[in-house]
Amino acid sequence: MIVLTGVTGKLGSLVAGQLLQQGADVSISVRDPQQVRDWEVRVRRGDYADPASLGAAFEGADQIFLVSSNSSGLHAQQHHRNAIEAARKAGARRLVYTSHMGAGADSLFPPMRDHAGSEAFLRGGDYISLRNGFYADSAVQMMGRAWETGKLVAPEDGPVSWTAHADLAHAAVLALTGGTDWQGASPALTGTEALTMADLAALAAGLSGRSIERVVISDEEYRASLLGRGLPKERADLMVGLFAASRRGEFAAIDPTLERLLGRRPVTMREVLEEALRS
Ligand SMILES: NC(=O)c1ccc[n+]([C@@H]2O[C@H](COP(=O)([O-])OP(=O)(O)OC[C@H]3O[C@@H](n4cnc5c(N)ncnc54)[C@H](OP(=O)(O)O)[C@@H]3O)[C@@H](O)[C@H]2O)c1
Repeated sequence: MIVLTGVTGKLGSLVAGQLLQQGADVSISVRDPQQVRDWEVRVRRGDYADPASLGAAFEGADQIFLVSSNSSGLHAQQHHRNAIEAARKAGARRLVYTSHMGAGADSLFPPMRDHAGSEAFLRGGDYISLRNGFYADSAVQMMGRAWETGKLVAPEDGPVSWTAHADLAHAAVLALTGGTDWQGASPALTGTEALTMADLAALAAGLSGRSIERVVISDEEYRASLLGRGLPKERADLMVGLFAASRRGEFAAIDPTLERLLGRRPVTMREVLEEALRS
């Protein structure tokens, strides 16, 4: 049996949908079981912040799909540690964890340091750490209201090999069902092109027929604008760190593994922006 976490989120719901369609033996661990009513499988409450809940939620698991927490900082690492310890206590044979292509203890983007810490907890057991590319959806969010304002305002950045949730979900399903020979960290699972904010502005302008200017501001101006919009300091620092990390090339690598695994070209940023324009 595969116990799935994160199914109320974007990646986990896609993974759950595909596995259920394949008739896989799955059960679900979620913070709020009321949110999962449509699937006829075992649903138990499992909160990474509440280790006692995870024992029952992971009971009987052969594998656990552990979607990384969307908390930041030490919370995230503690959440993952709780889940990994509970998985081991429950006797799970293998953990499949959603990490990131940029995972690294010296990353300038704090969540990448969390992933590195979580991967350290995973070592010593059987696990696959999915080194997911940067979500293409994050690019759309970072573009903000550029479509309406005609300006894409952000600090200096570097190229990012943006990757679609759907493709990463497909890779996760293959990892969980014996479709890969990965042990430990997977290769970086990325799209086939690395684009900067200027590239995104040009692409969006071409698709929408409106002009979109890329306006570079300093990290300090960006931080101040985020704080001015009410973001907590930790969140503002995190976003500034993201740009610093992308300038350093932490998300620039393009790896052919995902394309090979899918047997087709991964979803492109153009397709993601077309979809965003339609919605
Ligand atoms: N590769 C990337 O570029 C990238 C970008 C952003 C984030 N991420 C990471 O990838 C993860 C999955 O992405 P996503 O788009 O599916 O995120 P998402 O839609 O925000 O989903 C996050 C999921 O994690 C669950 N969760 C959060 N805290 C939890 C806790 N304490 N105990 C149990 N479950 C908890 C949420 O459950 P609830 O419904 O109960 O909140 C939700 O199901 C994120 O959580 C984040 O760690 C990756």
